Amino acid sequence: MKNLKKILAVVLSVMIVFSVVGCGQKEEAQEAAKTKLEQIKESGQLVIGTSASYPPYEFHKQIDGKDQIVGFDIEIAKEIASDLGVELVIKDMKFEGLLAALNTGKIDMVIAGMTPTEERKKSVDFSKVYYVATQSVIVKADQVENFKTPEDLKDKMIGVQKGTLQEEIAKGVVPADQIKGLGKVADVILELKGDKVDAIIVESPVGKAYAKNNDDLGVAEIDFNTGDSGSAIAIKKGSTDFVAAVDATLDRLMNDEKIDEFVAAATELADN
Ligand code: ARG
Repeated sequence: MKNLKKILAVVLSVMIVFSVVGCGQKEEAQEAAKTKLEQIKESGQLVIGTSASYPPYEFHKQIDGKDQIVGFDIEIAKEIASDLGVELVIKDMKFEGLLAALNTGKIDMVIAGMTPTEERKKSVDFSKVYYVATQSVIVKADQVENFKTPEDLKDKMIGVQKGTLQEEIAKGVVPADQIKGLGKVADVILELKGDKVDAIIVESPVGKAYAKNNDDLGVAEIDFNTGDSGSAIAIKKGSTDFVAAVDATLDRLMNDEKIDEFVAAATELADN
C-alpha cells in the first residue's frame, strides 16, 4: 500500500512535469508563429540599437540637465515607433556590436547611420536608404591644407571607428599598423586631440559637427573614390512585415521632406 502511494506520487509528479514542459513548448511555438511586427506591437516597445557618438546622426546631449540621446536617426526611430503605436527604447552600444545584438534578439532594429553594404546584407536585411553622405576627414585645424588627396594620408596614422565602412576605406589607403580602430568615435577624437592619430575618416556631416564644436579640429574633404555612404535600418533576416512597416514610415518622412528637416535640426542641436 505504502509502495503504491509512492509509485502514484512519482507518476503524478512526472505527469505534472510533462504537462508544464508541454505548455512551454506550445507557447514557444506560438511565439515563433508570430511575426516580428506582431511581437513588437504586443510588447508595446520598439527596442533600437545605436552607437551614439555620431553627431548629427545620434549623440548624447545634456537637455534640461539630463543626458539624452538625440539626432536625426533618433527622430526617425521615434516616427517608426509612433507609427507602430509603441514606446521607443534606445540601447547605446559599440558600433561593431550592433549586428550581433540584432541577430541575438537583444534589439529589434539598428539605426546608426549604417551603410547597407553587400557584406552586411549577408547577415541582415535592410530598409530602404533614407540618407546619403560623402566621406570626409577630421584633422587638426591647422593641418586642413595638408590633406587633399588619399596620397596625403600615406605616412599618417588614421583613426576610425571599429567595424565601419571607414575602417575599410582606411585599409585601402594605409597598412594595418597605421590604422587605429576604437569602439566610439568620441574616443577616436580624443586620440586626434592627443596627436596619437593624424586624421579620422567619418561621414561628412559628422566631420562638420565635430569641427564646429572643437576649435582645434577641422575638416578636409578627400575623395576616396569609394562612392557615397547611404544609411539604412538593419533588421533581422526574415522579418518581411517589419521591414515593410519601416519602409512605409521612411516613405512618408521622405515624401514630406521630414528627413532633411530632422538633419537640419539635429545639426543645429549638435552645434551648441
Ligand atoms: N556609415 C558607416 C558604416 O556603416 C559608419 C556608421 C557609424 N555610425 C555610428 N553611429 N557610429 O560603417
